[in-house]
Amino acid sequence: MHYNIAVIRGDGIGPEIVGEAIRALDAAAKRFGFTLNYQDVLMGGCAIDKTGVPLPEETITVCKSSDAVLLGAVGGPKWDTLPGHLRPEAGLLGIRAALGLYANLRPAVLFAPLKDACPLKAEIVAGGLDILMVRELTGGIYFGERGRTTGANGEEAYDTERYSVMEVERIGRIGFEAAKKRGSKLTSIDKANVLESSRLWRETMHRLAKEYPDVAYDDMLVDNCAMQLVRNPARFDVVVTSNMFGDILSDEASMITGSIGMLPSASLGDGTLGLYEPIHGSAPDIAGTDAANPLATILSTAMMLRYSLNQPVAADAIERAVQKTLEEGWRTADIAAGKEHIGTRQMGDIVCRMIETA
Ligand code: IPM
Ligand code: MG
Repeated sequence: MHYNIAVIRGDGIGPEIVGEAIRALDAAAKRFGFTLNYQDVLMGGCAIDKTGVPLPEETITVCKSSDAVLLGAVGGPKWDTLPGHLRPEAGLLGIRAALGLYANLRPAVLFAPLKDACPLKAEIVAGGLDILMVRELTGGIYFGERGRTTGANGEEAYDTERYSVMEVERIGRIGFEAAKKRGSKLTSIDKANVLESSRLWRETMHRLAKEYPDVAYDDMLVDNCAMQLVRNPARFDVVVTSNMFGDILSDEASMITGSIGMLPSASLGDGTLGLYEPIHGSAPDIAGTDAANPLATILSTAMMLRYSLNQPVAADAIERAVQKTLEEGWRTADIAAGKEHIGTRQMGDIVCRMIETA
């Protein structure tokens, strides 16, 4: 088999971590007998610098005709003062929308060898931790009407949270289907005690729940969820929520797995095309210093192999390789808990070696 991958290296640590992820993909391709072709396209700050816009048309065209998109991270202080629609982040939201990728899967797994990097007390995570966050990705307040106006007290700004039944249903189904394949438990997160959009969300989820009698379903308010994630994270199996709540809660969930540098993600729509990226940002403070953790991006390639390229055996091998690397004690600074650590490149080297045999 041969696959075409669009590659958006992005800004900050993006190019470094994507470099290692590509080496991991190539190692898997070599071992499992398929080939990959990579085409670099621009998005984010580097696209602004070269073309004046964060998401050039050509990038959308190339991504649409690819089997999958691999993305590093975008953004940085250099572009922070640009108007909203010209910021790197607008490119990221734009590409997700342009490709119809409404479902963002963010697995938060505590690898056993990283128990020390988890900031929670050992007894809280004694039974391990394996949560799948399903974040709605192309609706809600990140895409709603926003603007500036003048009110009674002078200048004002507003953003709008808006969800249709259709949007809730399709992300809800992804949550239920995912739960069926895992621990058969789904928790939907909202703020239905205050927000009308959340009340519609909850009603819709309750209707859907009747179609999935085998999945244990419950709702939880977002503030309570933020608390339960550190009090009793093992109570969660699959979590489904809106764009903004998912953005916030997935960062929290990532930290209890040791580091935000460990969490991969897959953004999916109705077809097989997907976009794969770590959930962390571009970390401009450590860019170019060989200090970034490439594991979240490498684990994202495993998700790509599983969801877009139908190479589940290669996906398993990459995940096993990461597991073994951690078991052998290799750590980048973010997961070293103050102990000895290695750089981005060496971490990539070791994972690639493991992929050959894992
Ligand atoms: C993420 C990021 C992005 C988001 C930013 C960079 C726009 O935080 O993927 O979680 O909010 O979706
Ligand atoms: Mg985020």
